[in-house]
Parts: sequence; structure tokens; C-alpha cells
Amino acid sequence: VKISPEIQDSLEIRFRSTARDLNRRGERIISLGLGEPGFATPAPIIDAAAQAMRDGHTRYSNPFGLPELCERIASKLKDENGIDAKASDIIVTPGSKMALSLALGAILSPGDQAIYVTPCYPSYLPQIKISEADCVARAIDLRRQDFRLDLDAIAAALTPATKALIINSPHNPTGAMIGRDEIEALADILSASQCILISDEIYERLNFSGAPHISPASHDKLAQRTITINGFSKAYSMTGWRIGYLHVPDRDLLRVISRLHQHLNTNTAAFIQKAALAALDLPPEIVAGYVATLAANDRALRDALAGNPTVSVRPSKGGLFAFVNIAASGQTSDAFATGLLERHRVAVTPGILFGAAWDDHIRVSLASSREEVAAGVARLADFAAQLSHG
Ligand SMILES: Cc1ncc(COP(=O)(O)O)c(C=O)c1O
Repeated sequence: VKISPEIQDSLEIRFRSTARDLNRRGERIISLGLGEPGFATPAPIIDAAAQAMRDGHTRYSNPFGLPELCERIASKLKDENGIDAKASDIIVTPGSKMALSLALGAILSPGDQAIYVTPCYPSYLPQIKISEADCVARAIDLRRQDFRLDLDAIAAALTPATKALIINSPHNPTGAMIGRDEIEALADILSASQCILISDEIYERLNFSGAPHISPASHDKLAQRTITINGFSKAYSMTGWRIGYLHVPDRDLLRVISRLHQHLNTNTAAFIQKAALAALDLPPEIVAGYVATLAANDRALRDALAGNPTVSVRPSKGGLFAFVNIAASGQTSDAFATGLLERHRVAVTPGILFGAAWDDHIRVSLASSREEVAAGVARLADFAAQLSHG
């Protein structure tokens, strides 16, 4: 089988098997590696799925998505995101990862260029390459602008062959969020191009920045060229349910994406779509409580690392993660993460998995309980301080 060496095992799957091995050996580890909420899927969502199965929603269904869910998503995008969305612009997919893959598959042709930022969600590059092996994938380094979009670099990278730009806010792994000024600038930069903006907004609801999340598709000049991707995994702890969606304003593109979807997925499981409807009707306190925990965990991490000679971190604004700078340790991210796991039984994710240039960072997940995160970050701070003493 021919597969590019850029396509490695999925990070989440590799991490889970390491954790399982340690658990099997009876070792109790503190996991700051999770890419999913630490709480169970809320009961009303589970009840809705069970009821839907009993009601017979177990057969093939509308490939675009259940009409009532597409309607509900369109009104959410309109009311909360300021996007001029119609139900007929929506396709419900098995996970937002599939939504991203369908978008790239529909957009990219041989010789095209796709731009993404680094560090980033580890599936972006493999997805670009799976969608179109002969596409040039161009990474924009977020280091120069302290994790903000490097707009000059994006403008410089843009060519007539650039067909897609993937952005993600709140951002995995840095916790940065894209501001209105960056969206304004992007609108100008992309105005004369053929480039579709793919906006991955999966962490939208996990926003503790104090500022609103901004969807680029709400901007007049970006509305027509933006595909908005979102899903249910992160806000509602539905990672294993596999449900997400995309909003595609361009009719021709929507038709191509819908064809890919029909032949790859047929439809997204109908009883899971019923559960997603229940998720959208959940009392907002449930997600708000979880967001408060994420904010407290981010504060606990910063407090634990304050003044540490070896590691430092910027405040996260949203999402599930903080990206910790370990450059002063002199270790690779893999060696650092392995040492922390072996000596202090704390699992984190090496920065190298988010881009080759990020071997001087580790990703710390804020997704566990306050107690678990407090214990884990204290051990991380101890481990890092010991490194500075040789
Ligand atoms: C930035 C980003 N996009 C998309 C996904 C995929 O989410 P889903 O479970 O909806 O496929 C993840 C999951 O970790 C992510 O971090």
C-alpha cells in the first residue's frame, strides 16, 4: 500500500494505547494528555439517543442530515455566530474530522497549495495529503507572532495555486483565539485570491477568554469563501459518538462535498443526530461549569509554573490545552514527556507531534478535574525545576 511518510498513526490513538499499557500494569498515571473533556456525556444526550433507537431511527437517512438538525444548526449559526446560514447549506458528518476531510477532498486538485499553521491539530497535514497527494502543503509558523496568525507570512505564501487555508480558533494546542483584527486583515489578504478559508471552530464553546468567539463567515468579505466546521465532541463530551458538521455557502462546492459524503459515509447515524439535537438544547450551565473548570485549570498551571527556571507558559484563551515552553530544559519534547511520565507518572503530549519546529514545547491538557490538574501541574513544576539543577 502506498502511503506518504507524512501520514503517521493518529496521535489520539497512539496516546490512548500508551495509557492503556500503563493502566494494565497497575500504574496510576495523571493524564494531562487528554484531547477530550473529562466528564461523561450528559444524561439528556444519552437518553435522546436511546429513545431515538427505540423509535426506529436506525436506518439509512437523509445524507445531508436530519432536516430538523440542519434547521437547528442553521439557526445556531445565525443567532450565535452571525453567519447567514440556511439549513440547505449544512452537511452533518461523522465527526468534524470527516467534515474537514470532505472539504479538503472537494477543494484540492494536483498542483494546488494548501496553507495551514504550525503548531496545529496533528491531522491537518495528513488530511491534506490524503485528500490530494500532489498538493503542496505550506505551514505558517505561529512563533514569530506569539501564537497569533502571522498575516504577513500568509500574504507572502498566497499564490494563484493556493486553494485552501485552514485556521482553528480556539486553537489546539496553543489555546490562542483569533481576534476581530486578524479576521479583518484576512478578509483583505484573501480578497483577490481563489482561496477557500476553512475555519475549524470545534472548541468554540470552550471559550474562557472573556471576549466573544468570532466566526470568519460572519464577515461580509469572507462569508462566501468560508467553510465553517464545528461539532459536538468537545463541548458535550461526545468524542466517541462521531458527529460534526460543515456549513458551505457555495452551492457548487456543497454539491461536490455532498457527493463525496454520500459515497464515503452515506449518512451520519440518525439516532446520534437526534442526540445532537438534545445537546444543542442542553441547559447552558452544563457547558459553563466545564468552561469554568478549564479556566481554573489554566490558572493553576500558570501559578504552578510561575518563576520556574525551566518552563513557561502563556495564558490560554480557550479550548482544552496550554502549550508549555520547555526550551530552557535543553531536552527534546519526547525526552521531556518520557522523563515526566517515568519519574512522576504524569502524561503530557510532546510538542513535536504538532509540528517539526515545536520540539521545545509540550502540550498540557486542561480537560481533567481541578484536583487531577492541580496534582499533575505540581509534579510537572517539580520535574522541570529538578532539570534545571542538572
Ligand atoms: C482542532 C481540532 N479539530 C478537529 C478535531 C476533531 O474532532 P471530532 O471529534 O469532531 O472529529 C479535533 C480533535 O481533537 C481538534 O483538536
